[in-house]
Amino acid sequence: MSKAAIIGGGVIGGGWAARFLLNGWDVAVFDPDPEAARKLGEVLDNARRALPMLYDRVMPGEGRLTLVGSIEEAVQGADYIQESVPEVLALKHRVYGEIEAAAPDAPLGSSTSGFKPSELREGLATGARVFVAHPFNPVYLLPLIEVVPGEGADAAVIARATDILTSIGLYPLEVRKEIDAHIADRFLEAVWREALWLIRDGIATTAEIDDAIRYGFGLRWAQMGLFETYRIAGGEGGMAHFIEQFGPCLSWPWTKLMDVPELTPELIDMIGAQSDAQSGHLSIRELERLRDTNLIAMMRALRGQGSAAGALVAAHEATLPKSLSDREAVPMVTVRRVIPVDWTDYNGHMNESRYGQIWSDGTDEVLRAFGSGPENVESGSSFFTVQSNTAYRAEAMAGDRVRCETRVEEVSGKKLRVMHRMIRESDEVLLAEGDQVLLHVDMATRRSAPPPPEMAARMAEMAARHGEDRP
Ligand SMILES: NC(=O)c1ccc[n+]([C@@H]2O[C@H](COP(=O)([O-])OP(=O)(O)OC[C@H]3O[C@@H](n4cnc5c(N)ncnc54)[C@H](O)[C@@H]3O)[C@@H](O)[C@H]2O)c1
Repeated sequence: MSKAAIIGGGVIGGGWAARFLLNGWDVAVFDPDPEAARKLGEVLDNARRALPMLYDRVMPGEGRLTLVGSIEEAVQGADYIQESVPEVLALKHRVYGEIEAAAPDAPLGSSTSGFKPSELREGLATGARVFVAHPFNPVYLLPLIEVVPGEGADAAVIARATDILTSIGLYPLEVRKEIDAHIADRFLEAVWREALWLIRDGIATTAEIDDAIRYGFGLRWAQMGLFETYRIAGGEGGMAHFIEQFGPCLSWPWTKLMDVPELTPELIDMIGAQSDAQSGHLSIRELERLRDTNLIAMMRALRGQGSAAGALVAAHEATLPKSLSDREAVPMVTVRRVIPVDWTDYNGHMNESRYGQIWSDGTDEVLRAFGSGPENVESGSSFFTVQSNTAYRAEAMAGDRVRCETRVEEVSGKKLRVMHRMIRESDEVLLAEGDQVLLHVDMATRRSAPPPPEMAARMAEMAARHGEDRP
């Protein structure tokens, strides 16, 4: 079992702790705030609900979480250390001094939004293992980590850290040169400054600015970013044409990017009041839940296209074990997963179309045992479903961890009948039963045909075994 030490357990440290914990790491957190356990618990509650829903496989069992009384205790035996204390350089230096005394070897990442690695390393004997690992809130869902090694970093430590971050579903983006505020926050600051001007000059409210982002370019950015989007905007002339057409605008007085509006009490009050009018009807916890639900739905949609953050989700999922029972087991456990938010409907429970997906995935697992799974379609042999019935026994809700147990009920000639039971793992309640009839198909003719003799023998053997133990 690997161990992560999290120093500072606020918004960001809590997110790091959750990310490691839910990926099976033991986690020790040090935070002197007497409220630390409560704050950490709230982030963990959000993370436990959200992160497992991203995947079509179950995540590994949670590691062990301990809230410890000192930095020394936290970093003892740690394979990775992440510092997320407030953005005050002197405080970060003090913390690194204590870490250095107790654990001089483990990779030490800092969540700093603005400091450069050369600043973080000042005065440290083991500074070469310190680097920036800048995450994005919520750390348990968003994959980007800006890794800034800077000059003088230990390349082997950076490589080790990068492997660790990738293994917990993150996307370490190595920043070639150290720079204040790294890459992403520089964009965000430019956009934020411009938004503050638009409010101050009475041109747009907070709600109108958010609409301008979420109904337009925000959607484009999430799937292609800036340059791929602009390449398309250039039409057949591509990027060069785009720059020719719009580049000159950059020096027109369209933007005020370099100036900062004075943050007077009046301006702050105005922004606060507009924000209250826009979002004050929801608590921060409700907003977090809405944000997490939307992020999951978006990433799962992108996953279906193999694009952007969705491609990362698929790649990480491929490293998670399927945790199904072996083919000799009766019944076979053919699916283990969490019901995601995008599978539920207006009643809050799983939409009936999704039961078909569970039955289909369960049947594929049985077909794999016959040598006729999705991977074997080239062999010219396949099964088509001709009938599927579902009995709904209890509500399945988003976040429920379920397993599907499957029995081969009947095998005769071209016909295969399987029975599924979907069970909620937290209390073993039966949620639904599925009854499917399939016919073996010769893919050359796409007509039903008896399975090849070897496959027929395997099917008959499994049907006999499953029949012996039928309740
Ligand atoms: N909030 C964000 O959106 C965000 C995003 C990316 C990076 N960051 C960076 O993450 C770091 C933490 O930011 P945050 O937003 O989580 O702040 P926060 O105030 O929510 O959390 C900081 C935590 O550190 C604890 N702390 C204070 N002194 C400590 C010490 N000596 N040892 C251990 N813990 C101590 C505090 O009790 C607090 O719980 C900062 O460097 C910030 O720049 C923040």
